[in-house]
Amino acid sequence: MSIIDELQSLKAEALASIADAETLSQLDSVRVTFLGKKGSLTRVLRGVGFLPAEERPVVGKISNEVRAVLEAAIQERQAALAEADLAARVSADAIDVTLPGRKRLPGRKHLINQIAEEVVDIFLGLGYMVAEGPEVELDHYNFTALNHPPTHPARSATDTFYVRDLSQGLDEDQGPVTEVLLRTHTSPVQVRVMERQKPPVYVIVPGRVYRRDIADPSHLPQFQQIEGLAVDEGITFGDLKGTLDYVCKELFGRDRMTRFRPHFFPFTEPSAEVDVSCGICAGSGCRFCKKTGWLEILGCGIVDPNVFGYVDVDPEVHTGFAFGMGVERIAALRYDIPDLRMLVEGDMRFLRQF
Ligand code: DAH
Repeated sequence: MSIIDELQSLKAEALASIADAETLSQLDSVRVTFLGKKGSLTRVLRGVGFLPAEERPVVGKISNEVRAVLEAAIQERQAALAEADLAARVSADAIDVTLPGRKRLPGRKHLINQIAEEVVDIFLGLGYMVAEGPEVELDHYNFTALNHPPTHPARSATDTFYVRDLSQGLDEDQGPVTEVLLRTHTSPVQVRVMERQKPPVYVIVPGRVYRRDIADPSHLPQFQQIEGLAVDEGITFGDLKGTLDYVCKELFGRDRMTRFRPHFFPFTEPSAEVDVSCGICAGSGCRFCKKTGWLEILGCGIVDPNVFGYVDVDPEVHTGFAFGMGVERIAALRYDIPDLRMLVEGDMRFLRQF
């Protein structure tokens, strides 16, 4: 077979292979087989050297033509395969642009934070300053300087989370409890503020507190309180009543009434619990207020002189009142939330209502 015949059959064979190639990588190996440096065309052309000189240009011309035809065919096939490939991929991960999008709701403040800010704002309007204290607190501030006797039940390790000393390699529940605890109320901040600041003191203290309670509809082991403290010359129980009555009306509505029931707290004397009239029955008694007509919302009192003793304030010159309220409880009362746990579970269907 002459070289020219060989070139023609090589061309036919290559064109068939190009047409048969089903993927871009198959096509590439066809190209290497026929046109590569060690490919068929190169091999055939090695014979040119043995031809008579006058035949060589003819064979050269034909071989150039064959190369050009094959390159063009490869390019064409490549384009076709690339297009098919793209079409296949597009239909494989097709996006239906007519499907409804995923709704992205705007963020908002959690109800607990909304209420805490609202209470703080009311007191800012009365000239109070915001103060804060540590959640990991010393026994001294949480209990002792707040006039709790050493035997007070709140000090028990079943009621309060204590940091234990594990330095002797003891197990978590075996190490002796230390003077360090998770504060059980925001009242220790009263002591911390009075340590640094001489009267007049008017502070409002929002913060998180901890108690060893099992979560149930009316208890959470971690919740938020807002503490208030006013110390000045001539402060009376009347100032306390006037202030808290005003704040309750701001929080719950002008038509609500308050009442002060005698109570006991170690750090105030006298002490009271404050109730606000039921917003559902306006005081006549219903299921919401358990037929009493009143809802308990906070504890308060006149600062006990013993507390002043710990912070070097002279009770002959200054008197003060203090109060503390639970933020979750206020939220629950204001919005008739039956279970405090709903406030911390993070269920958006619930939280979006507020
Ligand atoms: N600390 C009290 C509690 O956690 C609340 C409280 C009562 C705070 C009377 C006060 C107060 O400042 O005067 O239950």
